[in-house]
Amino acid sequence: MHTIHVNLGPRSYDIAIVSGDLTGVGTFARRRVKSDKALVITDENVKGQAERVAEAMRAAGCAVHLAVRPAGEGQKSLAVAGELYDRLVEFQADRRTLVVAVGGGVIGDLAGFVAATFNRGLPLLMVPTTLLAMVDSSVGGKVAVNHPRAKNLIGAFHQPVGVWIDTAVLDTLPDREYRSGLAEVVKYGVIMDADFFSYLEKHQETIIGRDPERVRHIVARCCQLKAGIVEQDEREETGQRAILNYGHTFAHAFESVGRYGSWLHGEAVAAGMSCAARLAQRRGLVPEDVTRRQNDLLRAFDLPIAPKRWPADALLAAMHNDKKALAGQLRFILPCKLGAVAMFDDVSEAEVRNVL
Ligand SMILES: NC(=O)c1ccc[n+]([C@@H]2O[C@H](COP(=O)([O-])OP(=O)(O)OC[C@H]3O[C@@H](n4cnc5c(N)ncnc54)[C@H](O)[C@@H]3O)[C@@H](O)[C@H]2O)c1
Ligand SMILES: [Zn+2]
Repeated sequence: MHTIHVNLGPRSYDIAIVSGDLTGVGTFARRRVKSDKALVITDENVKGQAERVAEAMRAAGCAVHLAVRPAGEGQKSLAVAGELYDRLVEFQADRRTLVVAVGGGVIGDLAGFVAATFNRGLPLLMVPTTLLAMVDSSVGGKVAVNHPRAKNLIGAFHQPVGVWIDTAVLDTLPDREYRSGLAEVVKYGVIMDADFFSYLEKHQETIIGRDPERVRHIVARCCQLKAGIVEQDEREETGQRAILNYGHTFAHAFESVGRYGSWLHGEAVAAGMSCAARLAQRRGLVPEDVTRRQNDLLRAFDLPIAPKRWPADALLAAMHNDKKALAGQLRFILPCKLGAVAMFDDVSEAEVRNVL
């Protein structure tokens, strides 16, 4: 087992990375919380894994209820959160009842939101099952449901008591979802770690082939990098955490104009990073070589490196609607070299149109 500690004072926790061990999650949880009840929340596609987690929790002495939701972003709603509150009430949940999220980012965000709000906060255990959730959404405490007019608008910061990552659960993850998760992996290399970027370039074949050793390494490295950022700026106040939004100003616009049906999140992020790198190159921040290496790697992972033929006006309007736009000014994270980025609030609309 590889353990990464996230140091947040009283909200500190461990991320455990294992391969082929969903049983250990029972003792992992019981060592961290005194809960004798747990609500395991999952979706239909990973019900089997969630049942194994539930079994492990029972073996560790917990009474367990299982809530199985349909898969999909539509579950991140206040209505669904309401149904889960009902389950907790029926279950006579108290302050110590553990909420366990077994699934991708949708289940993590939804279960996390329920845990953050029910009874002013229940302990939360994350058991991510997509690559994206392992390297990004299960770490850092951002939880949310969507408002009909904006994604993740209703949310909170609620750190988990632990994260249990069993990389073997990725065996059943569809290829497109896996590759989409790789976009966020590439992101960590570009924003923070040039050596890691080179590692991805060097081992791209075995990474695509999901070689267990490679997968463990990339998950561990990304969690370590994310933990480091969250430790410095837990609530995205100083700007340090904002570097994780590299490529995302563009990506959110692609997702929104494509009505969330066109691309998976990671696909939009890949095209978004490509636009951001070109914008940086045009500003003279990075040489052409950086844009090229990033594009080559994204292409090797079968990810898009340019937006579809969406009208630039619609994309710009979507960017201005994004909750990260401050007082009408768009904010971009741009590379300064491989492994380092900075935040820019002075990018003109003309520059954005140019790279779209
Ligand atoms: N909180 C954060 O910090 C944060 C960060 C990034 C993204 N997010 C959120 O995460 C969500 C996207 O997460 P996602 O990409 O994991 O999508 P997802 O949760 O929708 O999972 C993708 C699909 O894969 C299926 N699946 C999951 N694990 C599987 C497995 N092991 N085998 C087979 N199928 C499996 C799911 O049922 C779903 O159909 C978005 O809502 C986004 O807003 C949150
Ligand atoms: Zn993202």
